[in-house]
Amino acid sequence: MNIDQNQIDVLLQKYDELYALNPELYDLFKQNVDFMDEKIPTAIPFQQNQRHYSQATSIARHLQRKGFFENQTTILEAGSGTGQLGLTIACLLTPNLQVYADELARVNSSSTKKNTIPQNIRPKSSMYLVDLKQGLKYKNDRYFCFTDFHAVRLIGNLIGVNRQTIQTHNVKREQNQTLNIDSLINEQTVLINKLTVVGKHLCGAATDIVLVYEGVDQFGIALCCHAKCDAQLYVNKEYLHGMDMQFMFKLTSYQHCYGKQELNAEQTLRKELGFKARQMLDVGRILYLKSKGYTVGLVKYCSDEESGEAWLLWAKK
Ligand SMILES: C[S@@+](CC[C@H](N)C(=O)[O-])C[C@H]1O[C@@H](n2cnc3c(N)ncnc32)[C@H](O)[C@@H]1O
Repeated sequence: MNIDQNQIDVLLQKYDELYALNPELYDLFKQNVDFMDEKIPTAIPFQQNQRHYSQATSIARHLQRKGFFENQTTILEAGSGTGQLGLTIACLLTPNLQVYADELARVNSSSTKKNTIPQNIRPKSSMYLVDLKQGLKYKNDRYFCFTDFHAVRLIGNLIGVNRQTIQTHNVKREQNQTLNIDSLINEQTVLINKLTVVGKHLCGAATDIVLVYEGVDQFGIALCCHAKCDAQLYVNKEYLHGMDMQFMFKLTSYQHCYGKQELNAEQTLRKELGFKARQMLDVGRILYLKSKGYTVGLVKYCSDEESGEAWLLWAKK
């Protein structure tokens, strides 16, 4: 990527200007790692992918510490992929493990179909897992039978989702389901009290898509690649008025470049520019959420070794 001196000067000057306005928000990026990966007790009789599981555990525990689950809330995992974060939260919110452990023992002693239990042994809540991709449910959805939730897969673009979508889908279920976002028109609408949107490594453009949802009470989004963001969808264009936001998004990829090698002056500068561009874009998101009445924060939920993208943006009404 070519970067000329004028672009560098403009970016560094803008960073200094914006830093001076909200140093406390930029300083959030100086905080230490707080990796809350203490294992969540569960009746699931399988080992989960350790790396993803630890990251999801830390995100779930941070949100719990912020009080996200103190009151009953409907949960939507945006860009859920395999649904690892949703499953981890489902485990965290399942206190009555013995019911599932007993059922597992019963099934294992009386059936040839081992290590799985019926989905409907208790009335459960729905956890909504939204993703563009189909066919991701085979990895983690089957483990929801060991939690107090059913996995309700909504296939489609997050841009087509809103509080009404979830209310429309919020019907009593006996088991996991997969539905197409566009196919819900005639279903009954059931009101929900509280809506929480979570995401792990949610692509940048998708982050901007969900942050503008109306009627969301809480967001817990582990941010991901900014490089693929769409400047048109960015939530706070006003904040970065006059800047080439698409260029800034692209520049962010330099924060992860070059690995652990010793850097020359040019590489050091690019890395710095990438990180500064990223901070400005994320502080713009924080300010946008604040303007909508949220209390907002950022935590470093894992180390850079654990994941190149280690920041959790949380917001609460
Ligand atoms: C980097 S992956 C992360 C997946 C999973 N959350 C994880 O941590 O393993 C991002 C996911 O977001 C989904 N995604 C991206 N943009 C989306 C959109 N506009 N609507 C729905 N899903 C989207 C992708 O299909 C992909 O599965």
